[in-house]
Amino acid sequence: MSGPAGDPSSDDEAPLARAVAALRAGRLVAFPTETVYGLGADARSPDAVRRIYAVKGRPPGHPLIVHVASAEQLPSWTRDVPEEASLLAAACWPGPLTMLLWREGRVDDVVTGGRDTIGIRVPSHPLALSLLRTFGDGIAAPSANRFGRVSPTTAEHVRADLGDAVDVILDGGPCPVGVESTIIDLTVHPPVVVRPGGVAVETIAAVLGHAVGDDAGGVSRAPGMLLSHYAPRASIELVEDATSARTRVDELRASGLEAESLDPGPDAVRYAHELYGWLREADDKGVDVLVVVPPPAEGLGQAVRDRLRKAAAPRADEEAGASSDDAT
Ligand code: TXA
Ligand code: MG
Repeated sequence: MSGPAGDPSSDDEAPLARAVAALRAGRLVAFPTETVYGLGADARSPDAVRRIYAVKGRPPGHPLIVHVASAEQLPSWTRDVPEEASLLAAACWPGPLTMLLWREGRVDDVVTGGRDTIGIRVPSHPLALSLLRTFGDGIAAPSANRFGRVSPTTAEHVRADLGDAVDVILDGGPCPVGVESTIIDLTVHPPVVVRPGGVAVETIAAVLGHAVGDDAGGVSRAPGMLLSHYAPRASIELVEDATSARTRVDELRASGLEAESLDPGPDAVRYAHELYGWLREADDKGVDVLVVVPPPAEGLGQAVRDRLRKAAAPRADEEAGASSDDAT
């Protein structure tokens, strides 16, 4: 928990009360969710939401996810909610699932990046839920990292990235899931998974009773969904197995580079939980190239593979013609 520097009264107040007071004053609060830490602002205040973009260094026009305490708040943010969304809300909320739905008319453009849809979710982390219940309305929050960096999964990561730029950091320990929420677009038929994440695509298909699309055509895709995303400073190379990893690390070292391998085995739940911490560690150690063996493409493994693919993609600043608006 950190507060405005030099404010002697701040230690007396309970962290949650200070966080709510900050949100009501249009300030920013970093808070833990079950996926990653979020950088929150009052979603009803365009000025507060604009501060998020300034602090993250995120280009305008990237839509934000609105977090609410329960599905009962959907009508004040969304309209024409389809039956399938209600089924998913009942089965997966609170939890790591973000639904794209038609936005309700009064929602400000700054939240949705001017889109007609809004991303909305009910997180399951107890501290996030307490914050949302006490605050009483929606909190717009992207991951609490600087634009283009990996998401923070501890309060220390948030401090390292954003430091004093955040008014309050609620420390809820390491995030249990470790990768971002699954994003599903329910404004199209069949619904399309825009970003694999904390809820497995298999679970969604089981709830809906049919397969979902994978956004291969990119219809639902917003800025922040392109390649070169979730990237550490080290470059990432993906290989199939331990033997290839060893061979590649030897080659890279022979050429004078700091190379390490990451091969934590097939447990995708542990892999997701640790992934962003491992990527940050590689940077802290000054690794030039991290040679990574991804987990199998099942359950949470799909989200981990997605993030690794994006981390391994050519960087926007290194590749002519690549979009520079591709990381959130
Ligand atoms: O787990 C998570 O989802 C975390 C925690 C804090 O909730 N949040 C998160 O937010 O990952 P962010 O902003 O880092 O990533 C959200 C992604 C962005 O790529 C954004 O473009 C996309 O969701 N998004 C949000 N609203 C959208 C919309 N209406 N249409 C299309 N994409 C949208
Ligand atoms: Mg992000």
